[in-house]
Amino acid sequence: MKRTHYATQIGTSQVGQEVILNGWVNTRRDHGGLIFIDLRDRSGLIQVVCSPEADSNAFAIAEQVRGEYVIAVRGAVQRRPADTENPNLKTGLVEISAAELQVLNKAKTPPFYIENNIEVDENLRLKYRYLDLRRPEMMGNLMLRHRIVKIIRDFLDVKGFIEVETPILTSSTPEGARDYLVPSRVHPGRFYGLPQSPQIFKQMLMVAGLDKYFQIARCFRDEDLRADRQPEFTQLDMEMSFIDEEDIFSLVEELMVLLFAATGREIKTPFPRIRYDEAMARYGSDAPDLRFGLEIVDLTNILKDSQFKVFSQAVQNGGVVRAINARGCASWTRREIDEMGKMAVDNGAKGMAWIVCTETELKSPITKFLTQEEIEGILLALDAKAGDLLLFGADSIAAVNRVMGFLRLELARRLKLADPGELNFTWVYDFPLLEYDEEEERYVAVHHMFTSPRPEDLEMLSSDPLKVKARAYDLVLNGTEVGGGSIRIHRRDWQEMMFERVGMSLEEATEKFGYMLEAFEYGTPPHGGIAFGIDRLLMIMAGRQSIRDVIAFPKTQSAACPLTGAPSVVNPRQLRELSLKIKEK
Ligand code: AMO
Ligand code: AMP
Repeated sequence: MKRTHYATQIGTSQVGQEVILNGWVNTRRDHGGLIFIDLRDRSGLIQVVCSPEADSNAFAIAEQVRGEYVIAVRGAVQRRPADTENPNLKTGLVEISAAELQVLNKAKTPPFYIENNIEVDENLRLKYRYLDLRRPEMMGNLMLRHRIVKIIRDFLDVKGFIEVETPILTSSTPEGARDYLVPSRVHPGRFYGLPQSPQIFKQMLMVAGLDKYFQIARCFRDEDLRADRQPEFTQLDMEMSFIDEEDIFSLVEELMVLLFAATGREIKTPFPRIRYDEAMARYGSDAPDLRFGLEIVDLTNILKDSQFKVFSQAVQNGGVVRAINARGCASWTRREIDEMGKMAVDNGAKGMAWIVCTETELKSPITKFLTQEEIEGILLALDAKAGDLLLFGADSIAAVNRVMGFLRLELARRLKLADPGELNFTWVYDFPLLEYDEEEERYVAVHHMFTSPRPEDLEMLSSDPLKVKARAYDLVLNGTEVGGGSIRIHRRDWQEMMFERVGMSLEEATEKFGYMLEAFEYGTPPHGGIAFGIDRLLMIMAGRQSIRDVIAFPKTQSAACPLTGAPSVVNPRQLRELSLKIKEK
């Protein structure tokens, strides 16, 4: 009973031919005289008919089988009677008339239906992931993943890239998250760090002269998880020598066209580009979703001297007043507006002032504090008309960006402004090199410490560090950062300056990155690269809401694996060998 075909390889051209299929019982329907089995394999479904009249054991066995039994069936392909064709099935024009049926294994009743669009607690799906992956949509996601990675490899091979594996047990590479650590048995008290990315190794490969590198690389980051973050995830990681930003942009655009074409989608190149400052000011985010407008409008100049202290004081403290026109939302109830205000506060706002514009009047808790001139200025700047609802934020620039960026996305969600079918790619560039970390009381790199400042800004590194722009770029798709990279520092003196700027002493820099500084003295070519979140790209390609749906065995929000029980307790001997002791809580 060795398989001759996958289910969906069978069509009208096989009619009359005898075939053997192996797979699972998707459904079994007993129609009195006949038993129909939908056999499922990884390709899809096909109907098997078992008739008591046939000179075979098939009917008797078909009476015993249940859902998810593993079976082998031999029989002739026949055309279905015209009125029983199933247009929803790829194999809907044909069926197998069973001559022989074998049960290869029985199955318990699964804890959920093996079908698309089930509504089941995700923990249960992850615990029984091997059943979850039998569902066609999940199997399809794995196949898409395979296809996409294959296209990436073929494309980059043709472009002259060499795939190189870099270590998993390494010393930590700082990408801004916490490291996962692995204790060393051989060196008590010492730890390997799992790579947050292959960043330093790929730069070492450039020093080595590899010229064009890529890797489908596993990365590990201990950070708070969200729908688009996993503690271990996969990057398409690339690096090239003797190139500039434009080389990266055009290569990536060509690749994206190819990848999306594989899913039947056409995308236009070149992708639009937006400066970081503009993205933040107009959309309140460095990964703006540009499928809709709802732009944030600055009102600081109009309101800086206002009698309404919430506004004028924010400006006096160096902050801004900004607003969004939620068009057509004047009909919102007071409760709906307050609910939105509460969400703004939950996202760090001190409040959310608002104005409702009707045909006859402006309704608002704040207009009584504003002059006629200020009101007119606001309405003009926001192009406000009867029917509109205006929402305001006043605070430091960073706080207002965060809040207004959040309100913009929340409004778009409620008003269904983003077309789920659109693919909106944008390059974000001209990032600042550094930002100030209030908690750590030092400057930190916005991208990472190996990113080159713009040469013309180098002087400001000591005098005005926040003004220095980086040669960094992100690729944003529908408001999700799918990739990021930069042109790197390739000189020892610049790299030392950078380490110093982020508060690292020369000793510390030498201890952690001495090998890199040393390598830079042995003829390092100018180089740069980029890395893509493959899981994030696939999530969008597959139209899913979570990257967990495109990863075979993902972790939960609390970084656990319900299937294997990881992370798990280890036995005392293992701890002793590692010279570790667990402190009792
Ligand atoms: P970066 O940190 O921006 O850059 O990461 C590159 C891309 O990886 C994806 N990504 C993630 N996906 C899932 N879960 C996560 N926790 C997660 N974190 C990041 C994002 C992101 O754009 N070494 C640099 C690249 C370079 O400079 O070449 C780096 O890792 O889509
Ligand atoms: P208050 O004078 O505190 O009652 O605030 C009047 C209105 O201004 C209310 O609608 C508040 O939500 C709003 N508000 C308060 N602080 C801010 C702020 N920082 N930005 C925007 N609106 C605010």
